[in-house]
Amino acid sequence: DHASVLFHPGFRVGAVDRRLFGTLVEHMGRAVYTGIFEPDHPTSDEHGFRGDVAALASELGITTARYPGGNFVSSYVWEDGVGPDRPRVLDLGWRTVETNTVGTDEFLQWAERHGIEPMMAVNLGTRGVEAAAALVEYCNGAAGTRWADLRVANGRVEPYGVRLWCLGNELDGPWQVGHKDADEYGRLAAEAGKAMKRVDPSIELIACGSSSMEMPTFGDWEQTVLEHAWDVVDHVSMHAYYQEHDGDRASFLASGTAMDRFIRRVAASADAVAARKGSDRRLTISFDEWNVWYLSRFPGADNLPVQDGAPRIIEDVYSALDAVVVGDLLVTLLNHADRVPLACLAQLVNVIAPIMTEPGGPAWRQPTFHPFAATARLARGTVLDARVTCGTMPTERHGAVPLVTAAVVADDEATAIFLVNRSTDAVEVDLLHPGSALALTGGIRVTADTVAAEPGPAHAAATAERHVAQLELDGVLHDDRSTVLLPPESWTAF
Ligand code: AHR
Repeated sequence: DHASVLFHPGFRVGAVDRRLFGTLVEHMGRAVYTGIFEPDHPTSDEHGFRGDVAALASELGITTARYPGGNFVSSYVWEDGVGPDRPRVLDLGWRTVETNTVGTDEFLQWAERHGIEPMMAVNLGTRGVEAAAALVEYCNGAAGTRWADLRVANGRVEPYGVRLWCLGNELDGPWQVGHKDADEYGRLAAEAGKAMKRVDPSIELIACGSSSMEMPTFGDWEQTVLEHAWDVVDHVSMHAYYQEHDGDRASFLASGTAMDRFIRRVAASADAVAARKGSDRRLTISFDEWNVWYLSRFPGADNLPVQDGAPRIIEDVYSALDAVVVGDLLVTLLNHADRVPLACLAQLVNVIAPIMTEPGGPAWRQPTFHPFAATARLARGTVLDARVTCGTMPTERHGAVPLVTAAVVADDEATAIFLVNRSTDAVEVDLLHPGSALALTGGIRVTADTVAAEPGPAHAAATAERHVAQLELDGVLHDDRSTVLLPPESWTAF
């Protein structure tokens, strides 16, 4: 098979916002306890946070971290997680006993120490305007009023200056504690957002969009919520998880196309509201949960036993095929750089995560770690409008989809090219870059596997060894055309 990718520095999609490489750290399973935080671990710092996990998070290249949920936030009482008295409470999101050992200050200081921008979520499930505004004051207020003074009393004088705030989480979902219809949520988001911005007008607010494109309310939800909250919100959220269903590999490999359609539809919904309101604003998107997740294997929160401490919940084990799909999803996100400045790979550690740990033991990289880390490292500057010409392949779930996807990102120093071959055959790709010569330098490639993934560091390391390759391309000079051969079912960056 043959394909071509045409690009030119004069034709641009938009600048890559570094906040595209965010993640989620939820109080769920072992994401916090024995994930980022484990005081007894040999690598832990004086605050009790694991050094090995922090080092891997830095290598992964994450720029922002959403906290404390996810579904957890919808019944969270943030006051329980600050100050000297930390009650043990039953978290209704995941039916886990939450010790509140880690709370707002511990998380924000961890993020600060590691140069990660926090994205805080407020509880609009069981709580409302007052608690949300109080939390903004606790985080961002100057000393002299009640909640800011509580922060000072808890040992932190300087405000944290948290800029990004989510107005709740997945409130369109019947599984969400405090689930609402679109009018209820839209009104609440508008009023909570108004109060939060009165505390700190510099914050950016993210309204909950749909929990997936398959939600029965998708589309209507966005329009109704945005009709209510248009004046106060800065972004609308999207969430999407992809998996292979019943061995349907082709549809799974086409997940990037599903994500692309979802983004276009959310943008269209937001633009319809803008049109009705006589506004020229193009509301931007916070894709603040995305990943591969074998959701069909999850029994649902209602069926989880009540568990104490740090239970193992949705610790999905990833294959190199999953990693190729993650790479392709990143290609999609990059190609919407003009519309999607914020995104979070959900999650960071242990819970459907690129980083895994054992309590008291090692931390390691899952196969999905590699395309994320490479994209976060290489995708700097401006996304160019890469025009792909290629064949299509039929899929059960998404119809005919392109065999090849590509994203091209350039700054003054380098051009990064990301290519995915979804086909079961190798594809030769002509890169057409008229007017500019490229010196191809080494990159990284992930090829899909056909064996089931197994838990543990040994299998992850063996998968990386077999399926993640550093490419030797150094020194090959071309005028305005280069050719690259993509192996079947592969993701390549250089
Ligand atoms: O990331 C796991 C869960 O997925 C989050 O808590 C929730 O927001 C989503 O349904």
